Amino acid sequence: MKPPLKTDSLAFSLHGAAQAVAWVRGGTALPQALAQVFAQYEALPQARGAMQDIGYRTMRQLGRAEALLTLLAKKAPEPAKLHGLLCCALALISNPDQTPAGTPYNAFTVVDQAVTAAQADPDMAHAKGMVNAVLRRFLRERDALLQEAMKDPVALWNYPAWWISATQAAYPHDWQAILQVGNTAPPLTLRVNRRKTNVADYLRTLADQAIAATQIGPDAVRLQQPVPVTQIPGFGDGLVSVQDAAAQMAAALLDVDDGMRVLDACAAPGGKTGHILERARADLVALDSDAKRLPRIAENLQRLQLAANLQVGDAAAADWWDGRLFDRILADVPCTASGIVRRHPDIRWLRRKADTAQLATLSAQILDNLWRMLRPDGKLLFVTCSLWPLESEAQAAAFAMRNQAIRLAATGQLLPTANLEQDHDGLFYALFQKPTA
Ligand SMILES: C[S@@+](CC[C@H](N)C(=O)[O-])C[C@H]1O[C@@H](n2cnc3c(N)ncnc32)[C@H](O)[C@@H]1O
Repeated sequence: MKPPLKTDSLAFSLHGAAQAVAWVRGGTALPQALAQVFAQYEALPQARGAMQDIGYRTMRQLGRAEALLTLLAKKAPEPAKLHGLLCCALALISNPDQTPAGTPYNAFTVVDQAVTAAQADPDMAHAKGMVNAVLRRFLRERDALLQEAMKDPVALWNYPAWWISATQAAYPHDWQAILQVGNTAPPLTLRVNRRKTNVADYLRTLADQAIAATQIGPDAVRLQQPVPVTQIPGFGDGLVSVQDAAAQMAAALLDVDDGMRVLDACAAPGGKTGHILERARADLVALDSDAKRLPRIAENLQRLQLAANLQVGDAAAADWWDGRLFDRILADVPCTASGIVRRHPDIRWLRRKADTAQLATLSAQILDNLWRMLRPDGKLLFVTCSLWPLESEAQAAAFAMRNQAIRLAATGQLLPTANLEQDHDGLFYALFQKPTA
């Protein structure tokens, strides 16, 4: 429920973010939780921005905030919204990064506004004194409390323990850098639509508007400072799309020529679909099992003035298939998304360890099913945005063995830390060719 608070106050934004964090802890993804809050609170753009900022910051610092709360509160704060409020406030005031980027909110203002937020809510008013006491004690005993909390790796790294172990096991040399990068805000990277313009011309357009940017891939341009989508020149006219530099590697690897029949098997929201069609006049089927996500592909293609045959269907089944073989198949399978955690910092708190094996099993079914839909000599590109070998390299190796697939050169596992110049996400690519007869 919308609290009776001034809608431009930090208390209002803290309250909204606290509700969203509580929903994430209950299993809802942060973007959906925030969308629900925005609607219920009738939040205006400025408050939305603040709630989003606090929500995302809290996800990146939730391990530390929860560990501090355990040290500071005698029993678990209830309701979940109160737990969320304390976590948001602690995340904002306890960041060891004391630069303006790490700590943009004044600590005393945060404490004051968190108390105001609690007081304004009938479900939390009883705990107003506790919120004040907990947060003020943190400020008084900050160093000792942080030292104690940081003994727990979950508080130190801000990931669940199983996630830290999985990263350590897979990347004995790079695990700390990978975890660290996952707690930073991602860059805003654009894909220039080569059907409408080119990178050199677009960089000039950006320079004319005093937006600093660099080319970091064949079609990829990274802005020095992220800006809202509405301020990206030419976005509405389809000159550019927002897409990470690693995700932009898919279209080139798939090697599509004009006239080819292409299947994009897990297509929504259509980022890679759009890029493939920008590069070639293909006859493309964009399939996704989630009917609610299909309109996102349609919107993206409409903006780019491109067309595909959109279908709802299960890539692990064939009831949607007309029996005609494809020249190229893109299998951007569902996965834990552990390689894009800096864009989606809530994922780590939503996933369970068992998800990795379950998702890998589904992906294996999808890959085996799609293989029979590929023409001899055709190519299938397997993509995940995961860092776990079970979902990526081990999956690719097992698939090639089961299907006698020829493995062609592709990037393999891209680490989000590997090329800081390009500053891309952690994707995995394996490319397979079907033997002729
Ligand atoms: C990683 S996302 C795809 C991102 C997309 N390729 C892009 O570049 O914008 C995975 C997609 O797979 C879809 N999906 C999950 N299970 C599926 C299945 N069995 N068949 C088809 N699509 C599936 C999800 O709904 C989700 O949209």
